[in-house]
Order: sequence, then structure tokens, then C-alpha cells
Amino acid sequence: MKTVGIIGGSGYTGGELLRILINHPEVDIRAVTSREHAGEPIFKLHPQLRKLTDLKFIEPDVEKISSSCEFVFLALPHGASAPVAKRLLESGVRVIDLSADFRLKNKDDYPKWYGWEHPCPELLEVAVFGLPEFHREEIRNAKLVANPGCIATASILSVAPAIKAGMVDGNRVVLDAKIGSSGAGANVSEASHHPEHSNIVRAYKPVMHRHTAEIEQELSLKAGGEKVTVALTPHAVDMVRGIMVTGHSFLRREVTMQELWRAYRELYQNEPFVRIVRDQKGLHQLPDPKNVVGSNFCDVGFELDPHAKRLVTFGAIDNLLKGAAGQAVQNFNLMIGVDERTGIKFAGVRPI
Ligand SMILES: NC(=O)c1ccc[n+]([C@@H]2O[C@H](COP(=O)([O-])OP(=O)(O)OC[C@H]3O[C@@H](n4cnc5c(N)ncnc54)[C@H](OP(=O)(O)O)[C@@H]3O)[C@@H](O)[C@H]2O)c1
Repeated sequence: MKTVGIIGGSGYTGGELLRILINHPEVDIRAVTSREHAGEPIFKLHPQLRKLTDLKFIEPDVEKISSSCEFVFLALPHGASAPVAKRLLESGVRVIDLSADFRLKNKDDYPKWYGWEHPCPELLEVAVFGLPEFHREEIRNAKLVANPGCIATASILSVAPAIKAGMVDGNRVVLDAKIGSSGAGANVSEASHHPEHSNIVRAYKPVMHRHTAEIEQELSLKAGGEKVTVALTPHAVDMVRGIMVTGHSFLRREVTMQELWRAYRELYQNEPFVRIVRDQKGLHQLPDPKNVVGSNFCDVGFELDPHAKRLVTFGAIDNLLKGAAGQAVQNFNLMIGVDERTGIKFAGVRPI
């Protein structure tokens, strides 16, 4: 058993971490924090967990938490994580950070994409980008794992095989993302107010979205170091959970369907949480968030457009699972040396 803490346990990703970890056979949860709700049972904020756990929220006291936990998940807003992670690491705790604070390798990318200087740039070298499909071996021994962003996870996994195979022009990969309201966390805003969020397909941050940086970083690695440039535009849509990323890339040469299958199979046929979805018949021919919500799967698919010499790619995930808490537990499983499916081997919820 490993002793585990969650700092930022009252938010949506914190709730999903708890739902998974209270049933995880290798986990003893020692600390779950909320500044506002310290002392209250966690089911007050996460009513789905009533009768499943007696845990109560505590204050985010880093010294106390590091003396009782070997592993800590940070489910804090970006900017708030870095100083907490630094103190935990100094006490010998291994950290899985769900925020963006350690995802980018180049410290100069933080002022550019996030608007602040990184407070501990030396830790960017220590951090491992927590996408198991591409960094599994480094994750096993990592002290600090930077869990990828949700739009980034669906984007990278759906486009990477074509980039790696050199099929498409890496200078203009266009990504159109649709995301449900839980992607913005539990805090309310004008944009999340029900009459303003219902029935929408609302573009936001149409250029320079922050996830662009980590998508480019990881796809460039797959391109063998050649710089990949991504044009990302997300849309808020009328779902609670789920992300759909439709990618448009332009072919460098003639590509057959067989080659595409080979490229996707090469990367994913042994991956427990990536499914290639490209059927010829029926309703479910391509990925759809509806079929992954509630699970840790990322469904990827593709179609060739000979008219426009275009490759269309599709990536669907549950933003709170493969996009956050599920992937964080997959990383944790690798770090503790157990089957990476432990605790997250469940299907999605259907119908939803
Ligand atoms: N939502 C998603 O789909 C998603 C997907 C991928 C990654 N992420 C990332 O994961 C992180 C958590 O996201 P979320 O959606 O769970 O956010 P959230 O619902 O807003 O929850 C944030 C949590 O952090 C706590 N908190 C805020 N500021 C704090 C501080 N300075 N010190 C200690 N605790 C603090 C809050 O609790 P109290 O106020 O009660 O203390 C709350 O528990 C974010 O960095 C987000 O970008 C989210």
C-alpha cells in the first residue's frame, strides 16, 4: 500500500481522483485538502461518494501532508501548483501535478503562453510529461510527473502517428476542439451560467490557446525534433464532460489507407487505453466523446480526403479521466510498478 494525498480535493478533478483512489487496491488515502471546506466530510462536495468513504477535508498544510504521504496528486489551478510541488519534492514526496506548471520544457514558454515567469525553472528538467503512451519508461522513475492537458491529450494522441510517419506537413496542423463545461473546473463564471452555456458552440481563445505549446512540444518530438506548428481553436459545447478534437493536416505525399492503419497500429495496438475506431458500417464509425465518457480511454480515428489532399484525424476523451484524473492514476500505477490499468479498467457509461 502507498500513502497518498490529494491537494485541491474539492474540485472536479479532485472528485474523480477520489472516486478512483478509494477503490484502488494499492492506495491508502491520508489527506484530501480544501481551504474552504476543511473539517467537512468529502461527500458534502462530492455527493456521489456518500457511504463510500468517511474521509474529511483538511487544510492544505504541506509539512503535515509530506510527513504522512509518499505520493501527492496536485489538483490545483495553474500557477498555484509549482511552489507546493517544490516543497513536497524537497521532503522526498513524489508528485503528480494535474496543472500546467511543469508540462513545458522551455522556461521561456511560460511568459509566452501563461503570462508569468516560472518560479522554479530547475524543476522543468526534473518533470516528466505524463503521457504514458510516449513517456512510459521515464514516468516509472519520475519524482515529478506533469500530467498533460485535456485538449492536449486528445490532440497529441490523435495526430502523432501521422506526424511520426512523416505523412503530413508539420507546419500546418489545424486542430478544432470541442469541450464540455467541466473542463473549466468547479468555479462558476458568467460563461458557465446555465442560460449562457446551454445550446452553445462557442469558440473561445480562438488563437494562442495555452495547450498549443505542449501539443507542439510533444508532436515535435514525434517528428524527430523537426518543429511542428499547430493552429488550435477550441469551442465550448453543451456537454458536461468530453472532448472531441478534429484535426486537419495536409499530406506531404500520396498516402494509402493501409499505410495509415499501419502507422496507428504501430503506436497503439499494445496500448491499454488507446482504441483505434474506424469502422465501415454502423453508427460508431469514428470516435465520439459519448463512447468514452466515464472511462480512461482515448478513441482515435482518421479519414483520407483525396480531394483536398487532407488527412482528417479524430480524438475523443473524457476530459476528467484520460484528460486528467484517470491519466494521473495511470501515471501513478507506473510510478509504483503495478499494472497501469489498476483501478481505471472500467468502461464508459452508456447511454449518457
Ligand atoms: N477540469 C478539467 O477537465 C481538467 C483537465 C485537465 C487538467 N485540469 C487541470 O487540473 C487542475 C485542477 O482542475 P479542476 O478542474 O479540478 O479545478 P477546480 O474544480 O477549480 O478545483 C481546484 C481545486 O484547487 C483548490 N485550490 C485553489 N487554489 C488553491 C490554492 N492556492 N491552494 C490550495 N488549494 C487551492 C480548490 O479548493 P479550495 O478552494 O476548496 O481550497 C479546488 O479544490 C487545474 O490546473 C486544471 O487546469 C483540469
